[in-house]
Amino acid sequence: MTLICIFLGVPGSGKGTQANRISKQFGMAQLSTGDLFREALKNDPNGKLAKIVSAGDLVPDEMVLELVKRTLKSKGDYSKGIIFDGFPRTIKQADALKEIVREMGAKIQVILLELGLEKAIRRISGRRICSQCAMVYHLPNHLPKEEGICDHCGADLISRADDTEEKIKKRHHVYLESTLPLVGYYKNHLVRVDASQVPDDVYRNVEKCMKAMANDQT
Ligand code: AP5
Ligand code: MG
Repeated sequence: MTLICIFLGVPGSGKGTQANRISKQFGMAQLSTGDLFREALKNDPNGKLAKIVSAGDLVPDEMVLELVKRTLKSKGDYSKGIIFDGFPRTIKQADALKEIVREMGAKIQVILLELGLEKAIRRISGRRICSQCAMVYHLPNHLPKEEGICDHCGADLISRADDTEEKIKKRHHVYLESTLPLVGYYKNHLVRVDASQVPDDVYRNVEKCMKAMANDQT
């Protein structure tokens, strides 16, 4: 049975960082709605979507669901499972995912990365991302080998438009209002991981959860 693993947590909790590492280790596909939207914005940097994302608001559910369904139809190999990073973010999205999962004959597990606001602000303020492959870095905690250049693809590193302190607080508020209810929604499928530790320690705990989930499949 295909495993669909959802990485849930406040902005800056490390969803992208951990999902990237785990997807490589377990051969799972990583689907980050935030990365997909930022990719789409390159073709329309001043459009409606760009305004929503850079303001720290949620993209309307219909647009998100359209994007997720299109991506699932067009993209890649899901035989070893999928990690959703940043999706679902509302009850309506979770209801729609339930239907997708039913159609795929898959199973859902949720990893909740728990982190307080102050640490999340510090992490996001230092974040840099690759302008091409979306790889995540941090100044000064996770530096690229060459300043301003992505280790993986050689493209320039940039700051995200929604990574100012004001926008981080806004996104945190949006999370509490719209996404936190998913913790109750998924209470029977959810494991909590302390995301305040150094990345390798968080990784070890996430990896443990993933192995337990994989064993549950058999
Ligand atoms: P999205 O891109 O999903 O952003 P987010 O949820 O706000 O989360 P972040 O990407 O900011 O944080 P993260 O948890 O991935 O942390 P990271 O690993 O980068 O969404 C952006 C926007 O798109 C939304 O605001 C919305 O507009 C739209 N959108 C996307 N999906 C949507 C949906 N489903 N519905 C509606 N709208 C949607 O780590 C952060 C930093 O900390 C990095 O610099 C990293 O190097 C560092 N770091 C990571 N772990 C550690 C650690 N353990 N110790 C120290 N530093 C660490
Ligand atoms: Mg992210």
